Amino acid sequence: MTDISVNLSKLKLRNPTILASGIMGISGKLLLRVANEGAGAVVTKSIGPEPRSGYENPCLAEVFKNTYLNAMGLPNPGVKHFAKELKLAKGGSVPVIASVFGDTPSEFAYVASEMEKAGADAVELNVSCPHAEVATIGQSCELVSETVKEVKKAVRIPVFVKLNPNVTDIVEIAEGAEKAGANGITAINTIRAMAIDINTCKPLLSNRIGGLSGEALRPIAVRCVYEIYQNVKIPIVAAGGIFHWSHAIEHILAGATAVQIGTGVVSGLQIFQEISTGIKKYLEEKGYQNVQEIVGIAHKEGRN
Ligand SMILES: Cc1cc2nc3c(=O)[nH]c(=O)nc-3n(C[C@H](O)[C@H](O)[C@H](O)COP(=O)(O)O)c2cc1C
Repeated sequence: MTDISVNLSKLKLRNPTILASGIMGISGKLLLRVANEGAGAVVTKSIGPEPRSGYENPCLAEVFKNTYLNAMGLPNPGVKHFAKELKLAKGGSVPVIASVFGDTPSEFAYVASEMEKAGADAVELNVSCPHAEVATIGQSCELVSETVKEVKKAVRIPVFVKLNPNVTDIVEIAEGAEKAGANGITAINTIRAMAIDINTCKPLLSNRIGGLSGEALRPIAVRCVYEIYQNVKIPIVAAGGIFHWSHAIEHILAGATAVQIGTGVVSGLQIFQEISTGIKKYLEEKGYQNVQEIVGIAHKEGRN
């Protein structure tokens, strides 16, 4: 029997597909809906210590097929309000991962601990939104380490760190997060990018600069996962350009234990089921028993 369940630190996922942060994760009902459609776990929208309205429209644009530019500005109702939504989402059968952010390590720790109290199964630290202040945390090895240490002191649930690809050496930051006690790495958030409307002669997004997601991001994300896998031992969750089961397999072969689907959700919520079924068929056809057997096998010489 082929088994597509995976272990992610202390979490047990029925399949390796996870809803990425910022996509439908703003209410308990929506998170439940995605869980019911077949996701192995769900990540909430990034939540901060206080309510935040985000940037003015336009904040999302399709720049070419299946590739988007967004600068939402981390709109969220603040952790006190969101705790109710998280409790609702916990009614489902899959782990709920709370994405959290703050301006300082102690704000991260505060939001993470409130999320734990509300029932989150894990937290994902968003130190990486490329068009908000948190980006600077994710660009500094020291700040990432400090943030992880503070959060680890504040919670007992697993702590994942979502990395910013807008750095010279993503591996250095991943290693710093691991040394500081992180239980997993999510790679990657969006890439800083912009587009200009040639008729208005103005940038497309109100914030001018945003983050690129979708198909165009996939080769960059696969490279990041591959390089991180060579250098850290904690599990990696891939995010970037997954629209089809073969894209998920590519990330798993590079070193990911599970995969997040963000922009791919534009094709419909059946995507979680389709990708899980595709992964299972691939394993069966190749004669593997479980997902773990293929994690990182694109590294010819093994992990190191
Ligand atoms: C509209 C939109 C909003 C997003 N909001 C968040 C967010 O709040 N927190 C976060 O960590 N990532 C956020 N992301 C990044 C995604 O979670 C994901 O890392 C990225 O889009 C790459 O995956 P994809 O190509 O599957 O979309 C957002 C992405 C999009 C497109």
